[in-house]
Amino acid sequence: MTRRADARIADAIRTALGDAASVVNIGAGLGSYEPTDLQVVPVEPSETMIRQRPTSLPPALLGTAEKLPLPAKSADAALAVLSAHHWRDRPAAFAEIRRVARRRAVFFTHDPDASFGWLDDYFPGLAGETTSRYPRLAEFDALGGVTVEPVPVPADCTDGFTAAYWRRPDAYLDESVRANMSTFALLDERVVADGVARLARDLADRSWHRRYASLLTLPQLDVGYRLVVAELT
Ligand SMILES: C[S@@+](CC[C@H](N)C(=O)[O-])C[C@H]1O[C@@H](n2cnc3c(N)ncnc32)[C@H](O)[C@@H]1O
Repeated sequence: MTRRADARIADAIRTALGDAASVVNIGAGLGSYEPTDLQVVPVEPSETMIRQRPTSLPPALLGTAEKLPLPAKSADAALAVLSAHHWRDRPAAFAEIRRVARRRAVFFTHDPDASFGWLDDYFPGLAGETTSRYPRLAEFDALGGVTVEPVPVPADCTDGFTAAYWRRPDAYLDESVRANMSTFALLDERVVADGVARLARDLADRSWHRRYASLLTLPQLDVGYRLVVAELT
């Protein structure tokens, strides 16, 4: 398993929640990035995920973003971490967030108009085609006053989401690493195989290192991840 919450991204999410004391975590999954110092009600539609949650975290309620199993105005904030692109009906989900959360909604998401950097050169369609599921940033305006902050990905990010290994290119040669990135599962198998073969060759003859030399000393990089904070007025 290559998905382990990155402490720096966790800090950014926690800071965005601000003075909220209670949070509904929508699409909570196994609880990555769920703040442990706040009163959290996790909501999750997958019974398998609910069963697999660590016992150190609060148990999740079975439910969806489109029909939150919670009373009106019952939490200070709503949180959705890499979850909103799974929702079938985002306008309905946004209406539910406005019903249940009193103050703000915080999303960790990917900008579908942003690039994944050099990965797009090897895996055409990774950005754009597979990320078209993510809400366009303007969509969040339906919730209220919105601010958007880039979340640069550290070079040694511990959470193996799609662009996490931007400075560790060998990782993308490993099928088990790619298997934890839902974007790769959405790409045509031949596109993936061709990209992996080209990447392996370019890493072996060091042409990758020459082409992307400017990245090799960067501590972090903006590869399209965003914190969206909507103040619910
Ligand atoms: C990529 S996972 C993210 C899980 C967790 N937030 C994390 O960061 O590890 C997406 C989650 O959204 C959930 N999900 C799918 N459809 C949903 C819906 N309609 N409403 C709420 N959550 C949903 C999935 O079951 C899954 O747990």
